[in-house]
Amino acid sequence: MTSALFSPLQLRGLTLPNRIVVSPMCQYMSDDGSANDWHLVHYGQFALGAAGLVMTEMTDVNPEARITLKCAGLYTDAQETAAKRVVDFCKAFGVAKLGVQLAHAGRKASTGHPATGGKPLTAAEGGWKTLAPSALPYAPDWPLPEALDKAGMAKVKADFVAAVKRAERVGYDLIEFHGGHGYLIHQFLSPLSNQRTDEYGGSTENRIRFPLEIFAAMRDAWPADKPMGIRVSATDWVEGGWTPEETVLFAKELKKLGCDYVDVSSGGVDPRQQIPLAPGYNVQFAAKVKKETGVVTRTVGLIADAKLAEEIVASGRADLIAIGRGAMWDPRWAWHAAEELGVDAPYPVRATPCLPSLRPQIFTRRAAK
Ligand SMILES: Cc1cc2nc3c(=O)[nH]c(=O)nc-3n(C[C@H](O)[C@H](O)[C@H](O)COP(=O)(O)O)c2cc1C
Repeated sequence: MTSALFSPLQLRGLTLPNRIVVSPMCQYMSDDGSANDWHLVHYGQFALGAAGLVMTEMTDVNPEARITLKCAGLYTDAQETAAKRVVDFCKAFGVAKLGVQLAHAGRKASTGHPATGGKPLTAAEGGWKTLAPSALPYAPDWPLPEALDKAGMAKVKADFVAAVKRAERVGYDLIEFHGGHGYLIHQFLSPLSNQRTDEYGGSTENRIRFPLEIFAAMRDAWPADKPMGIRVSATDWVEGGWTPEETVLFAKELKKLGCDYVDVSSGGVDPRQQIPLAPGYNVQFAAKVKKETGVVTRTVGLIADAKLAEEIVASGRADLIAIGRGAMWDPRWAWHAAEELGVDAPYPVRATPCLPSLRPQIFTRRAAK
């Protein structure tokens, strides 16, 4: 058997052993932005489980960029040291490559944990003034953010670059710029949240300008042999919002700047969104971006079935498959997918005693094919 899902992918100097990516997932468990034992276990389990790439949660580039007070950050020496402890463990014992997703929550910052409603924090709860392209709240009952001026934008860009340098010292293999899900970069892209009248608002060319400027600065600061990509929302799922056609235009410009992959997700900028949830609901957008730009694409969204993942990659609609909640439910998702597809997956040395081929009496799925 051969499998497209389990074929390697080369991104600059990085060889991903397969096309499976553990999707970035906020943990809301950091101490002042620093990783702790939770992260060691959480990322450690994924690193052992044979996905080609494990992405960290959204990791914020300065304190006001955080969604919650418990979000991950990469703007202090302590955060860098704590992240390195996790990455060192994953590299020493795991089989996956490690990527960090760098982000700024913009007007969606300063909230409580989603499990408690995710509502904006009051000042008494430790809330802070949020920043955005325009002084437009996320929802009518949310606080008004402050519109970034040129000095504020320069600081955001510098903070992203500083986080890139820290990421290199931590030892991540790959960087992902978070340009989706309604956070600051997406807020610049979407006409629903960006109503600036300067050269950063109005036309598509103007709205993509600041995200491209930051991407270029980050790319310059990241080693040439290491890949850097982006996560985008291909549509806002709201009339008058950011569109798949604009996503293609944006991806073409990113490609010129050396973007190694575009992860195509959707939604997040406007609570009025209507998302037609179904397995692989974002695949159509990844396929469009791939077809019209030739850039490597990743897709995500309710993909938990090995055969669906295999079919998406084999049909050329996306090059990488991100698994979020499915990986949380089954951290060994890639082992089990390999077994179902009748191929081999990498196992850490210490895990080899459980190889199904050594226990044919128990694992009959492959033998049954
Ligand atoms: C608990 C949780 C936290 C998430 N945090 C992030 C994040 O930090 N960055 C991001 O880009 N997406 C985040 N997402 C979205 C996931 O990466 C993924 O796109 C989404 O869950 C759909 O994929 P799935 O159906 O495989 O879970 C999060 C999702 C969940 C469930």
